[in-house]
Amino acid sequence: MIKCSEAVKELYIMIQYNNHSIKEFHTFHTDARTRLLTILANEKEAQQYLSKPAESTNRLVIGGGSNLLFTRDFEGELIQIDNKGFEIIEEKGLWVWVKVAAGENWNTLVQWAVEHGYGGIENLSYIPGTVGAAPVQNIGAYGVEFKEVFNSLEAIDLADGSKQNFYLQELDFDYRYSIFKGSLKNKFLISSVVVKLARYPKVTLDYGNLKEMAQSMSGKKIPDIVDVRNAVIAIRKTKLPNPDELGNAGSFFKNPIITHEHFDDMAELYHDIVSYPQKGGGVKLPAAWLIEKAGFKGFVSGQAGVHPKHALILINLGKAQGGEIYQLSQLIQQKVMEIFGIPLEPEVIIL
Ligand code: EPU
Repeated sequence: MIKCSEAVKELYIMIQYNNHSIKEFHTFHTDARTRLLTILANEKEAQQYLSKPAESTNRLVIGGGSNLLFTRDFEGELIQIDNKGFEIIEEKGLWVWVKVAAGENWNTLVQWAVEHGYGGIENLSYIPGTVGAAPVQNIGAYGVEFKEVFNSLEAIDLADGSKQNFYLQELDFDYRYSIFKGSLKNKFLISSVVVKLARYPKVTLDYGNLKEMAQSMSGKKIPDIVDVRNAVIAIRKTKLPNPDELGNAGSFFKNPIITHEHFDDMAELYHDIVSYPQKGGGVKLPAAWLIEKAGFKGFVSGQAGVHPKHALILINLGKAQGGEIYQLSQLIQQKVMEIFGIPLEPEVIIL
């Protein structure tokens, strides 16, 4: 077993704040407060803390806060685990299994993997958030989903502090979905994740202009994982605002799936329609296309807006209240429904 960095901190250094601002704990950076904020340093401490009776019945585990919209103060307890560390638990044949602390930054893991020549997550470069949050919503980008590299995870039961292992079949992974958004919502704190990466990686290049971008940036006909990571970062930087500069939570809505009949009707009216036929039936449409067609790209309402370079990104222009962003999202849903008869479902968790 190779220890790549400190995997377990033994010190007990839990931090708790009462009535605390959460502006820096979520990427929309709207101003809201939480009744209680608990930051746990490691798994052992988390187990001990969660085995005690809860101070509030309304508890929410947060990672990097990159998928949350607080429309009001949080009347309960927000819990975060800030553990760090990578550990290679096995390296055999085609694969390497790496255990990663949930509090690690996701992009740090991708960078580490690419630097070590391990493939599978390079297309998920530069996604904000923590490793522990990645399985919750099965993060995905540029033709790859987290579930493809998932091996297992350890999670602590919020009700009694006991630890459980979860394996692939149990997680019900789907498009931006896992059981932790369904029947196990708000029931567990994920403390570590094991990913299975490729020691002899094959790159995935069949999304949009990724292949052309990776080839032209690297000057290679067959780009490697470093080239793919560089290309993904470049694409994301041109389209997606950095949440540290302009508050946002990535895609605000999921891409909707409609019937073939509905799609045919739309295709007659809109010759530039973009679509992705689904294996399981139906046609997926980019929500960004619908929102742009509805006239919202670059739209501003008070301190909330729609990003001028990508219509699926709602932004905080600086001093937005969460409620303002929520109202804008409702207006978008209403207009898209009116024009296209398509309901848009938020990807972001609205609190
Ligand atoms: N488009 C527009 N107007 C725009 C932007 C895009 O019409 O302003 C159209 C274009 O035709 C484009 C298509 O929408 O080809 C798709 O756009 P993009 O490639 O940017 O992907 P997306 O469907 O908007 C999804 C994920 C992103 C992920 C990208 C790349 C969802 C909800 N979002 O976005 O994930 O990075 O694909 O794979 O599935 C996130 O979840 O927060 C996220 C950013």
